[in-house]
Amino acid sequence: MKKALVCGAGGFIGGHLVNQLKSEGYWVRGVDIKENEYDNNNADEFIIGDLRDPDVANEVVTSDLNEIYQLAADMGGAGFVFTGTNDAGIMHNSVLCNLNVLEAAKNKGVRRIFYSSSACMYPEYNQMDPNNPKCSEESAYPAAPDSEYGWEKLFSERLFLAYQKNHGIEARIARFHNIFGPQGTWDGGREKAPAAVCRKVAMAKDGDAIEIWGDGLQTRSFLIVDECVEGIRRLMTSDFSGPVNLGSEEMISLNDFAKMVIDISGKNLTIKNIPGPLGVRGRNSDNHLIQQKLGWAPSTPLRKSVEKTYEWITEQIQKTVLEPVEA
Ligand code: NAD
Ligand code: GDD
Repeated sequence: MKKALVCGAGGFIGGHLVNQLKSEGYWVRGVDIKENEYDNNNADEFIIGDLRDPDVANEVVTSDLNEIYQLAADMGGAGFVFTGTNDAGIMHNSVLCNLNVLEAAKNKGVRRIFYSSSACMYPEYNQMDPNNPKCSEESAYPAAPDSEYGWEKLFSERLFLAYQKNHGIEARIARFHNIFGPQGTWDGGREKAPAAVCRKVAMAKDGDAIEIWGDGLQTRSFLIVDECVEGIRRLMTSDFSGPVNLGSEEMISLNDFAKMVIDISGKNLTIKNIPGPLGVRGRNSDNHLIQQKLGWAPSTPLRKSVEKTYEWITEQIQKTVLEPVEA
């Protein structure tokens, strides 16, 4: 039986990945600084631990592991990563997790490791035109990410590749493009646009206006978590290291995305554009390389994924109303 460690198993993508590995027959150890609030820890072993501490990394990385998935990071949407107020923590915390897990993997002789990078590492100068952003893998340099979160991801990609070059660890690196879906963060300040817009629409009543940050003409593509997990597994079982984009090519403006969610809700709502943290003007995944190397690319239509997510967020709001958290 293959054994895997999922770092960040208490989080959104890590929780889905644990379930996928279990369904494939893996023995899975999860580690996170917190419990997974939705997935009830389907890992065979779940360790609460802080990967900024090298002793914790040494405890959870054992020599019997076949694979490590390193997803633990200080992470959030525009309201968390583009305000500037969390930059030191994001860089300090995430880089320590990466350094400690890699060093432990080297010392314990674990041969294969996945790293979750981000489209935020792409240069801002190629993402100024909302209708024609460039995010092909080779366009990463000259580097000029628009956030410290993006710089940390770019540095850590290089860190994983350096361990591959010098220590024989096989690295697999994907650049995620805005992943969303059931069990993703939907409130509290770290939520990304898909969940935030679903929450705002679900909580609105006929005649209300939904607040969208910026002029709403900025573009993104959003990928459902199921296809993210499928891509991670396909990359991990391939002989291609990456870095490679893992995202959807179905680009949409934020106002059109809000209109889609409003249409799904069946409510009579309008959009109000307000100031807010924005990030790049336009972003879309470029899937040429993943198609070429893996013979596969995400294909689920955005609307289908949003319908599923809107339904789940509506249920969470109803649960919160029925079971309010005690003050
Ligand atoms: P998430 O916040 O739900 O999961 C990250 C998990 O890491 C959290 O559960 C958190 O508690 C854990 N963690 C943070 N610091 C830790 C520490 N010191 N020790 C142990 N655990 C720690 O986020 P996610 O959306 O599941 O993202 C997973 C990975 O994918 C992250 O590396 C993120 O940067 C990357 N990524 C995500 C997206 C996206 O759209 N969701 C896009 C690009 C990249
Ligand atoms: N979060 C959020 N909430 N964003 C909103 C909202 C809202 O209510 N209204 C409009 N937006 C706009 C933001 O201003 C931004 O221009 C766009 O929607 C997308 O915001 P996010 O989904 O929060 O983040 P992002 O796409 O800019 O970056 C995310 O994806 C990266 C990978 O593609 C972040 O989660 C990064 O951390 C991640 O690496």
